[in-house]
Parts: sequence; C-alpha cells; structure tokens
Amino acid sequence: MKDTLEKIRHDALKDLDTAKDPQAVNALRTRYLGRKGAVTQCLRQISTLPPEQRPEAGKLANTVKKALETAFTEALKRLEETAGGPLEALDVTLPGRPFGRGHIHPITQTAQEACDIFLRLGFEIVEGPNVELDYYNFEALNIPKDHPARDMQDTFYISKDVVLRTHTSPMQVRVMEKQPPPVRIIAPGPVYRVDSDVSHTPMFHQIEGLMVEEGISFGDLKGILTTFVHQMFDEETALRFRPSFFPFTEPSAEVDIQCVICRGKGCRVCSRTGWLEVLGSGMVHPAVFEMVHYDTDRYTGFAFGVGIERIAMLKYGIDDIRKFFENDIRFLNQF
Ligand code: DAH
Repeated sequence: MKDTLEKIRHDALKDLDTAKDPQAVNALRTRYLGRKGAVTQCLRQISTLPPEQRPEAGKLANTVKKALETAFTEALKRLEETAGGPLEALDVTLPGRPFGRGHIHPITQTAQEACDIFLRLGFEIVEGPNVELDYYNFEALNIPKDHPARDMQDTFYISKDVVLRTHTSPMQVRVMEKQPPPVRIIAPGPVYRVDSDVSHTPMFHQIEGLMVEEGISFGDLKGILTTFVHQMFDEETALRFRPSFFPFTEPSAEVDIQCVICRGKGCRVCSRTGWLEVLGSGMVHPAVFEMVHYDTDRYTGFAFGVGIERIAMLKYGIDDIRKFFENDIRFLNQF
C-alpha cells in the first residue's frame, strides 16, 4: 500500500508537469482524486488491511491526497493567472459590449437651435456671470431696492448686493455698458429662482435678446419674434402680442403662441384658451438707456427673454419640467 501511494504521488506530479491548461489539470484531478480516482481507491482499501497497518496507511493516504489537492489547485491558479483570468470565462466569439454613446441634452439642443435662428438674423452670442450683482440683475433694469416688481422673481441672495441671476436680462446692461449702438445680441444661459413644482425648477435657462439702433420700432420686435417662432415651431403657428408689464421695457408685451397641442381649439395644456405664453418682450425703457448713457433721443431698441425649457416642453410635448433634470437615460435617449 505504501509503495502504491508513493507511486501514485510520483505519477500524478509528473503528469501535472505536462498539463498545459486548466482542463488538463481538472482531468488529472478527477483521475487521481475523483470518486473512482486512484487515491480514493486506496483510501477505500484501508479497511481491508490488517488492523495494525491501518493507522500508518491511513495517514500516508491522507498526506498524499492533501499534497495532490494543493498541487492541482496551485497549478490551476498559475495557469489562470498567465492567461489573465479564468480561461473558461473567455469566449472570444462573444460580441463586444458596446459603449453607450453620449449625446447633447435636449435643453442644450433646444438652446442651440434657438441661437442658430438668431445668428442667422445677425445677432451675436454673449455670455455672462450666473452670480450677479444686484445692480445688474435689478437696479440698472429699473427695479430699485424695495420696488414691488422684485416680488415677480423670488431671488436667491448670496449677500445684500449679490444674487444668483433671476433672469438673463442683466446681460443687456453689461453689453450696453461696454459698447455704443448698434447692439444686436442674444445671451443664453442658466437663471435661478426660489421656485419648484411641475412647471418650475430652481435653475432653468433663458435666452435674452437685445437690439438697439436708430429707428428700431415695435414692428421690428414683432418681425424678429415672429420669424423666431415660425422657425422654432412652424410657419402655421400664430402669435399674439399681449400687453404686459416689465420695469425695463415700455411698452411691454408677453408673446403667446397658438397651442401646439390642440392648434388653438383649447385643451388641458393651454387651459382651454388655445394660447401658450412663451416669452416676455418690449421696447427698452429710457431709464435703462440712461443707466448706460445711451442717447434716448437718438436710439430705441427692443428686448425679449425666452424660457428654453418652456420651448422644449412645447416642442416635444413634455408635461413636467423636472424630467429635464432627473438624468433618466430612458428619457434623455429619446432626443
Ligand atoms: N426677464 C424677464 C423674466 O425673466 C423676461 C423678459 C421680459 C425679458 C421682457 C426681456 C423683456 O428682455 O424685454 O421674466
């Protein structure tokens, strides 16, 4: 028995030396240690030996069994390491895992589309700070401290004189302060308000527009905004200019477009009115021109502010503005 066990150990280790892959090692393990394996057979025969030989034979059989276990396990580990992982798991015929390709966020897409329309109309793009002085956000726009018009926009105050801009309108002042007329700019970007529900998020996006020159009239405002709406939606979309109030324009108008869902018949989205409010606009107030030392006898201009999320919601029929900011891939993939 002793000789048999020593021979088994010797043969097994020799065979193991020639094993080139995990399958071969596993086959050897079965041959020597499996249910019908050589070592197992020996262990079984121990009970047939004379009692005085049994302890020694049993001890040796277990030693050989353990030694071979260790040798097989180590051989497997070595082979798998040199192959860079469990060989069985590598199927070179499997198709590769695709990397999801990113794309432009629907709000950015809508903003770019809107900007492109104004670029074609001769406007230039400018950008400015999101953390803004109270002076530009309010005061220079004819909204003095403690003026009731400040209630129109719930403001995030950083300090007494610094706010998160509540609209892109401060860019009007920043631009005019730096250059004389003619001015023809748009200013896209994020704005912030203390507001949160299905149609409001604390951060959203606007595009500001400003055109100042000699002889600019309300007709120019109507022409530019009509072109914008027709290119953003379609030529069939009717517009309506509704008298309104903004401290920095006089006269002021809110622009409604014919409901893109029901085509003006009246539905849930347009609260049965057939119209949807899309932007604020007006002729630049002389008080604003005075802040930037423009000659109010010589120059006139118009300004407008469009909500980008609002346009995107109408364009794509989205009923909850928060969807744009949840970053759900299933939603974003549709654009
Ligand atoms: N800033 C206004 C708002 O956020 C929108 C607006 C109205 C902008 C009239 C303008 C304008 O430039 O002329 O509510």
